Amino acid sequence: MALGIGAIIGTGVFVLIGTAIVGNPNRPGAGPGVVLSFLASGIVCALAALCYAEFASMMPVAGSAYSYTYASLGEVVAWLTGWNLILEYGVASAVVAIGWSGYCVNVLQSLGIFLPEALIHPPETGQVGLINLPAVLITLVMTLLLWVGTKRSAQVTSIIVGVKLIVIVLFLVVGAKEVQPEYWSPFLPNGWSGVGAAAAIVFFSYIGFDAVSTAAEEAKYPQRDLPIAILGSLGFCLFLYMAVAAVLTGIIPIDQIDIHAPVADALKYIGYSWGAVLVAAGALAGITSVLLVMMLGQIRILFAMAREGLLSPKLAKIHPTYHTPSWATLVTGCGVALLAGFVPIGEAADMTNIGTLFAFSLVCLGVLWLRITNPRQPRSFRLPMMPVIPLLGAASCVGLMLFLPTITWIRFGVWTLVGLAVYGLYGRQQCRLNHESSRLLL
Ligand code: ALA
Repeated sequence: MALGIGAIIGTGVFVLIGTAIVGNPNRPGAGPGVVLSFLASGIVCALAALCYAEFASMMPVAGSAYSYTYASLGEVVAWLTGWNLILEYGVASAVVAIGWSGYCVNVLQSLGIFLPEALIHPPETGQVGLINLPAVLITLVMTLLLWVGTKRSAQVTSIIVGVKLIVIVLFLVVGAKEVQPEYWSPFLPNGWSGVGAAAAIVFFSYIGFDAVSTAAEEAKYPQRDLPIAILGSLGFCLFLYMAVAAVLTGIIPIDQIDIHAPVADALKYIGYSWGAVLVAAGALAGITSVLLVMMLGQIRILFAMAREGLLSPKLAKIHPTYHTPSWATLVTGCGVALLAGFVPIGEAADMTNIGTLFAFSLVCLGVLWLRITNPRQPRSFRLPMMPVIPLLGAASCVGLMLFLPTITWIRFGVWTLVGLAVYGLYGRQQCRLNHESSRLLL
């Protein structure tokens, strides 16, 4: 559960919550109704999480949606899933790094250090931004850490999980006393469309629960531990997020919310400058751990796909001294740094969400398919109410995707076509050649 919470709580609740509440010219915000957006997204994730849990208890291999779809729906769908996991992990890493930058700038400002605007924003029409330098720098530091190895990462993750939970509890305790119920009215300033649009944004805040399944090989009793860890961490975060959303919208008027560091800034707004600095520092630490986990996930996926023969074998090479997949690390680090430096956070988050929702819907269908084609295989965790949960899970993932902007759908279409072309031209032959390689061992 600590691993799950370590991967889950980050930029979503600390940063994107601001945009979800306020909205922007192209999409309505949910206002205080963002509490319902967190609930809706949480339910969608719980349905997918249940499917993940059955998969994970059937095949406790290190891996994630990629391994599961490989086993259930075959190579092409596995390729598409892996291709979309690049959005889930790689592009999400950029979102997380940009969120980190927002809080870094906030902490520096409270210390009296002001960075030039051109160096803290990406280039956007009508804006002064050139590059988001803090986001690039933190990505490069993480790349270096991952390059030399992550032996201590489990211990450090546990400490950081503790720190981020403490700052969230601090926010809740301090904020709850200052709630002005009149700020909660109107509760749905943009009606249900605002709640839906915000749900499609805050979905990002739950991404990472499946990271638990990537560590399945390291669990002592995977059959029992995985479902508990996946569902437990998700349920815990759902509860926490709804509380943060209620307190945040109760202590500051919507038009005063700072979308770069909303949680810390809200405390400053109600006069707790010390609390704001503590929360910002804790958020920085928390977001850093998410970045590490997300980048590690991306590296593992590239590594696994390369080992399977679906990508260049170079990406599966292990560094002779550090014993890490150095090429996969380098490619991930450079890709994430470029995105983090030059792409606005909202657009990257939308791409992450559409790709992840698509991969989740495939996992839901995969679990259903395996029940039909392979009913006798032992499953220590069996989904209740078959086939309702996987069908509902797949449908709700697609439903949430529909709330994402048209431009995101177009980009997603192009991404999928490029993926299929790469598979057709390269991955398929390579995979045939590597047929005997260690399939399913991610
Ligand atoms: N759920 C993770 C976050 O919010 C990715 O940063």
